[in-house]
Amino acid sequence: MLVDEIVDAHVLVIGSGGAGVRAAIEASRNGDVALVSKTIAGKGGCTTMAEGGFNAVMRDGDSIEAHREDTMKGGAYLNDPALVDALVREAPARMADLIRWGAVFDVTDDRQVAQRPFGGQRFPRTCYAGDRTGHEIIMTLLDRLDATDTQLYQEVSVVDLAKDESGAVAGAIALDRDGNPVLFRADATVLATGGGTKVYDISTNSAAGTGDGYAMGYRAGAELIDMEMVQFHPTGAVYPYDARGRLVTEAVRGEGGILLNARRERFMERYDPERMELSTRDVVARAIATEVLEGRGTNRGGVYLDVTHLPAEKIETRLPVMLEQFLTYGVDIRREPMEVAPTAHHIMGGLRITPECRTTIPGLFACGEVAGGVQGANRLGGNALAETQVFGKRAGEFSGKAPARSGRIDRTGIDGVLGVLDAYFEGSVSPATVRRDLKLTMWSKAGIFRNAADLTAALAQIRRLADQPLRAASTANLLECCTVRNMCTTASLIVRCALLRPENRGAHVRRDATVITEPAKSPFGHTYISLAREGIERREVAA
Ligand code: FUM
Repeated sequence: MLVDEIVDAHVLVIGSGGAGVRAAIEASRNGDVALVSKTIAGKGGCTTMAEGGFNAVMRDGDSIEAHREDTMKGGAYLNDPALVDALVREAPARMADLIRWGAVFDVTDDRQVAQRPFGGQRFPRTCYAGDRTGHEIIMTLLDRLDATDTQLYQEVSVVDLAKDESGAVAGAIALDRDGNPVLFRADATVLATGGGTKVYDISTNSAAGTGDGYAMGYRAGAELIDMEMVQFHPTGAVYPYDARGRLVTEAVRGEGGILLNARRERFMERYDPERMELSTRDVVARAIATEVLEGRGTNRGGVYLDVTHLPAEKIETRLPVMLEQFLTYGVDIRREPMEVAPTAHHIMGGLRITPECRTTIPGLFACGEVAGGVQGANRLGGNALAETQVFGKRAGEFSGKAPARSGRIDRTGIDGVLGVLDAYFEGSVSPATVRRDLKLTMWSKAGIFRNAADLTAALAQIRRLADQPLRAASTANLLECCTVRNMCTTASLIVRCALLRPENRGAHVRRDATVITEPAKSPFGHTYISLAREGIERREVAA
């Protein structure tokens, strides 16, 4: 196989979700930008699916300090304080950018941006556009992108990063929609590929959430942190079968929805009597899973989420997408409860970054969900959209200032990638079989409750799956082989890091935890993993 086309740009941005588009807008102030999107921009990725909102300090009574403390506490103090500082300080300005560019958020009677309560926050801090906030944001960003000179490559999928002879990242190799290789060369490359919870059987992610960025970054030699920190959103749809795992926004609870088990007990009283349904996601997800495991769930393996006590008009205006979604499942949420259960939603870990979004390899920046450190061990709902905008802008700004690349592209690396692609035509195993087996393994052995025996068995199975000779039945099918390979790598990073952390912290719960710690006083810092090393950081904690 040979490279069909070469594209040169000052900055290459990989991914067209909120972080990638924001990065491209900012980088375009300093030179040519190529934005590569695996899907039609705005149709894939998680931003467009994000329903509930965007956390930003917008009014008296709230403060940057309070947002910082809520984020650190919610993240079980594993968050990188410098990244949290950037998030909370800059979120209001990034909201202002969106409003200036035309985003329409809900407003109060006195024309201020409306804010709703979300879990783990002491102030109603979550700005929203009904329950389709992410859609409003991505449409606004794409409009703004149109006003720049950014070249948008849609349905073009990056399969690996390219390096120059000094080892710096200098672009990427992609497949166009017909499966032909394209080489992008750039002075700086921004990974904004989003998350990867499609490695789990039940997930809120769109089809694009296959962890490509984690896997490509790892193969290129970048260090990743805290990959064991997978957030299970407490409320995913339970039925019909095809809708399993689909997001039922936290805004339902923010607007007053309550959780009931099959005995109609408001069970959150037993798990967090103070915050109840608005506890942090790790706590609510475990509470629901416990109710089900202990036999107090519904026949379909969920619990009830009930808004029937709210005025119909509130449901119609604040939760129109939920109303519509459940009507298609045959449930009128104004009159009957929804049935929900936890679903894999977000990976808090990712590529290690500085506040300028530099990764550990020269030439490579990362922002959004593919980057780690901002959200710690558990993300507060509403902090992901804020993260996309704060760190998308930062990645665009600092990559845009990168000097012109001097080294030549390393041909051996490119030939290696093309060789992997060629080998798929000689393979014998359908990627669909491996994908299925991987997802079931992750769900049953590396889910909400973990232990060493299950994780070890999962890792062995993932390694077996990763060794399968995948078969591309056609050129167009090559991408599925690359995707499944990335899913195997992402799954193995999650499980290897889960084995490295011996304590329970945030979203990571090991029933066999060998060390009992209090989050704020834990002697452990980030887990880290790269081609060169893996381990867990130790930190000094005041007694
Ligand atoms: O529940 C939700 O609307 C999801 C929001 C988030 O993950 O930030």
